[in-house]
Amino acid sequence: MRRVLYPGSFDPMTNGHLDLVERASKLFDEVIVGVAVNRTKDVLFSLEERAEIIKECTSHMMNVQVKAFDGLLVDAIVNYKVNAILRGLRAFSDFEYELQMALMNRSLNEECETIFMMPTPLNSFVSSSIIKETALLGGDYSKYVPEAVSAALAKRIKGIKNND
Ligand code: PNS
Repeated sequence: MRRVLYPGSFDPMTNGHLDLVERASKLFDEVIVGVAVNRTKDVLFSLEERAEIIKECTSHMMNVQVKAFDGLLVDAIVNYKVNAILRGLRAFSDFEYELQMALMNRSLNEECETIFMMPTPLNSFVSSSIIKETALLGGDYSKYVPEAVSAALAKRIKGIKNND
């Protein structure tokens, strides 16, 4: 059984993230999307909200599970009994951070391997941060995110504006 963990903060999931999950679901027996805490980032959605949205976005793939966790990635790979961590590389600029993270994780646990896949270049400029900023400033983000994300974002932005 080849099981891979695709971790990220997914705040929110973009079409680029979904594309990677779809590609991975064809290569691996099981893909676990690990919604994790990145302590360097502010979030728009709670861990639980992000996990629920991703479940909706990935419900068409029978071998994909979604788990939310707050802890070390190296502990998650042991808990979920996965063979490797999967991360996406959109552009060369992603590489330095990804290399640092992969090597840190392997230093924490010698067994922890990271593999990289490239999402479609159509989405290579899309990131969760850019989507959040576009959405907060009233721009049209709908073609860069799955439908469930678009609906959740619209609701969250409306809530924020009503509280202003
Ligand atoms: O989507 P992101 O924000 O680039 O994902 C980063 C994430 C969540 C994978 C990273 O912050 C992480 O692994 N968090 C869990 C805590 C941890 O293990 N930190 C050390 C990583 S070297």
